[in-house]
Formats: sequence, C-alpha cells, structure tokens
Amino acid sequence: MPPSSEHGYTPPAAMPDYLIRHATLRQLQVFEAIVRLGSFTRAAEELFLTQPTVSMQVKKLADSMGLPLFEHVGRNVRPTEAGLELYDSCRKIFETLANLEMKMADLKGIKRGRLRLGVITTAKYFAPQVLGEFCKMYPGIDVALKVSNRDRIVERINANEDDLYIMGQAPDQFEIEAFTFAPNPLVVMAPRDHPLVGHKNIPLARIAEEPLILREPGSGTRDAILRIFKAAGCRAQVRMELGSNEAIKHAVVGGLGLSVLSLHTLSLEGPAGPVALLDVEGFPIMRQWYLVYPKGKELSLVARAFLDFALDFEPQMRIRMQQMWPDLSKFMDTAEKSGSAVDQK
Ligand code: PGA
Repeated sequence: MPPSSEHGYTPPAAMPDYLIRHATLRQLQVFEAIVRLGSFTRAAEELFLTQPTVSMQVKKLADSMGLPLFEHVGRNVRPTEAGLELYDSCRKIFETLANLEMKMADLKGIKRGRLRLGVITTAKYFAPQVLGEFCKMYPGIDVALKVSNRDRIVERINANEDDLYIMGQAPDQFEIEAFTFAPNPLVVMAPRDHPLVGHKNIPLARIAEEPLILREPGSGTRDAILRIFKAAGCRAQVRMELGSNEAIKHAVVGGLGLSVLSLHTLSLEGPAGPVALLDVEGFPIMRQWYLVYPKGKELSLVARAFLDFALDFEPQMRIRMQQMWPDLSKFMDTAEKSGSAVDQK
C-alpha cells in the first residue's frame, strides 16, 4: 500500500501518458549519451550499438516529442532548445532510476557477499572482464575465480565447490541448468609466414598433413578438435601437447606447428598479430559458452545477480568479438539460422 496523506487519500501521480506510450528508456539513454559525449559515434561506441541504430532511436524519440532534438551548425550537430530540456529531464530520470536500482540491490541483500565462479581455461580471456563490470556495480562483493580445464570443472560441479560455472559444453554426466552465453568460435592458427596464410577454403586433409599442437587431455578444445578430425576421416599429426593456450600460441609463432584454439585467445593482440588465422573448410567451428549450475541448487542472491548480469552483458561481448574479427558476423548469422551454434556431444 502506498503511504497515504493524513486524510487517507493519495492523489494519482502526474502521469505522462503520451510519453509512456511513445518513448522508451532505451531511446532516452541513447539521446543522453549523444548530448553528454557530443557525438553520435562516441555514443554508439559507449552503448555498443551501431550508428544506424543510434540514429534510428533518436529519430523515433524526436517523432514522439514532435520537435527536432538536434540542429546542424556547420559540420557539427548540437541539441536544440527542446533537446536541452529533454537532456535535463533524462539526467533526472536516470539519477532516480540509478538510486532505485541501488536501493533494490540493498533490499535484496546483494551489497555484500561472495561469488564463487569456476571457469574453464579458455574462459579466462573474457570472464575477468564480465566480473570487472559486475564488481563495478556491486563493489562490496568478493569474488573467487577458479580457472581449470574441462575435466576439473566437471569434478568441481559434482562436488558443488562453486556457485556458477562457465564452460564450453554442458556436461552430460548429471542434471544441470545451462544458459547459452557468448559464441566460442574455434579457429585454425598458423605463424604469420606460413605458406597456407592467405589461401581460401583449405581442405582439412591439407591441415592434417601439418604438425599439430594440441591442448592437454581433459581440455574441451582438444575434444572438439579431435571430434572434427575423426568426423572428416583425417588423422591429426600431433607434434606436441601443451596445457596452456598462451604456450600454444607461442609454439605456433615459433614454427612448431599449427593449432586450433578459441578466437578468444587472441582477445588482446587480435587476428592481425603474429598468429594468423587460416581459412579452413568447416571453420570456424561455432561453439558456444554456457553458464551452468547443478539442477536443484539454490543460487545465492549474489550468484543470481551475476547470472542475470552476465546474460545481459552478452551482446557487448558479441560486438567486441565482431569488432576484433569482422568476418565472424557471417559465421554467427549462419550458425544462428541453422541453429548450429550450440555444440553438444
Ligand atoms: P578448455 O575448454 O579451455 O578446457 O579447452 C574450452 C572449451 O570447452 O571450449
């Protein structure tokens, strides 16, 4: 019940019926970012949106307001008088909503607490970033991050050692709740001066002639590669096994052989660095990350908040991956249309 006045009657709040029906909070967010940053491009970058999306949102908002929100002055755009009024209101609305979000978090008890996250080796390339953003929102939360290979993570799930897990393939040994997360494309890597660099649609049989560097037994990446070779009737020439993605990249650059790893392993240097990507038939293999916990497990408020946060954060990760390797977009589209993005045994 709302708190009532001394006569027991609460008058209705002033209700902006027209705007409630026509404008959205997302449009206001886009508009606020453009004015604050002084640029459509920078607003698009900050919000991980494309420029056409930003322009479209502003156009819809201006239509709802019935007035232009920006005017051109020479080569620049600046807010009109209506735009400045709207900007002022946006700041107040967002401040109120941000306070509300914080109060709700407090009421839910997630201001303090502990999050135990178990992630598979290759997820270490993005899990810290998701965690970093989460901790900015909930600075009072302590985080324990355990990084292990697939077999070890499966053991940890079985022993109920952590709140949540990120892995490249949902385990089938026991019942779990699994939420599909960002894409995990596996790509063929070679040293930049390798003769196959620049070739198109190289047959897997040709790759099978080259020495291959594989992850250690127990790795999900390793299992996926060996399955691909087996399905194609090829025998991999395994020259070396290494327990770390970074060590494998160094071995590739050192000319010890080719390898197949997740594109995430190039997240710092990008695909134009010393490790080159080969265009091989059937690649990239579009795998998927999963956020996982055992079925029936009661998630803590902190773990539930992280799960929701990570799922909301996913589009930003996709955009970052596409920015790093624009070719990825066409594979993501195909994988989504054919439903093949999910790689389960
Ligand atoms: P891994 O797992 O890091 O153990 O290879 C990654 C995956 O399953 O894709």
